[in-house]
Amino acid sequence: MSEQQEILNKTYQFAEKYHSTDNSGHDFEHIKRVYANMNTLLKNEPEANPFICRMSALLHDVDDHKMHTDGKVAERFLQSTGLDKTRISAILETIDAISFSKSGENPHFDTLEMQLLSDADKLDAMGAIGICRALNYGFSYHQPLFKEDELPCQENNEKHIINHFFAKLLLLKGAMQTAVGKKEAEKRHKFMIEFLQQFFAEQNLVIWQDFLERFLDRMAR
Ligand code: ADP
Ligand code: NI
Repeated sequence: MSEQQEILNKTYQFAEKYHSTDNSGHDFEHIKRVYANMNTLLKNEPEANPFICRMSALLHDVDDHKMHTDGKVAERFLQSTGLDKTRISAILETIDAISFSKSGENPHFDTLEMQLLSDADKLDAMGAIGICRALNYGFSYHQPLFKEDELPCQENNEKHIINHFFAKLLLLKGAMQTAVGKKEAEKRHKFMIEFLQQFFAEQNLVIWQDFLERFLDRMAR
C-alpha cells in the first residue's frame, strides 16, 4: 500500500471515531457523503491533487466551531501521521478556506482543491439530504419548525427551521465552483424549492408562497 493510501485509511478511521458522537449535523455520515461527493468531483478535475482533496474532505469538520474544539485537532492529527509540512499546510489551508460564514455567498478560492472541497460540502447541505440535515439540526437545538408570522430574514437564522432555507440553503447554488458541482446543485436546489412550495401549499400560506416566488425572482436577477 502506498504511503498516501495508508495515511488516508488512518484518517478515515480517525474521522469515523471523532464524529461518532455528534448531533449537530456533523456526524460521520456527513463526512462520508462529502468524501463521496469529492470522489465524484475529482473524476472531472484531473488537475486537482487528489490526496489533498480527499484528506481535506475527511478532516474538514473536525475543528468546526460546533464541535467545540481548540481549533487544532486536525493539525495535531496530521502531525501525528508524519506527513511533511508542505502537505499539512496545504490540507489545513484548504479546510480553512471553505466555511460559508468566512467565504460568504460569493466566495473566491485561491486553489482548485478549495473549490472542490467547498462544492463537496455544500452539496450535502442541499437537496433531500440538506432538508433532513436542517430538520435534524434545528430540532436538536430545540428550534421550532416554522413560525407563520415570522417572514424570513437573514439576521436571525435561529427563528425557525424554514427560515434557514432563505438565510442559507437557497443561496448555496450561487456559490458553486465546478461544472459538475453546479449541475448537481441545480437538481438539489430545485428539489428544495419543490419541498417549500408543497409545504406552503398544504397549509394554504399564500403570503409565504408569494414570498418564495419573489425571493427566487430576486435570485435570478
Ligand atoms: P457544513 O458542515 O455544511 O459547513 P454547518 O456547520 O453550517 O454546515 O451546518 C451543519 C448542517 O446543519 C447543515 O446541513 C446546515 O444546513 C444545518 N444548519 C446549520 N444551521 C442551521 C439552522 N440555524 N437551522 C437549521 N439547520 C441548520
Ligand atoms: Ni461539512
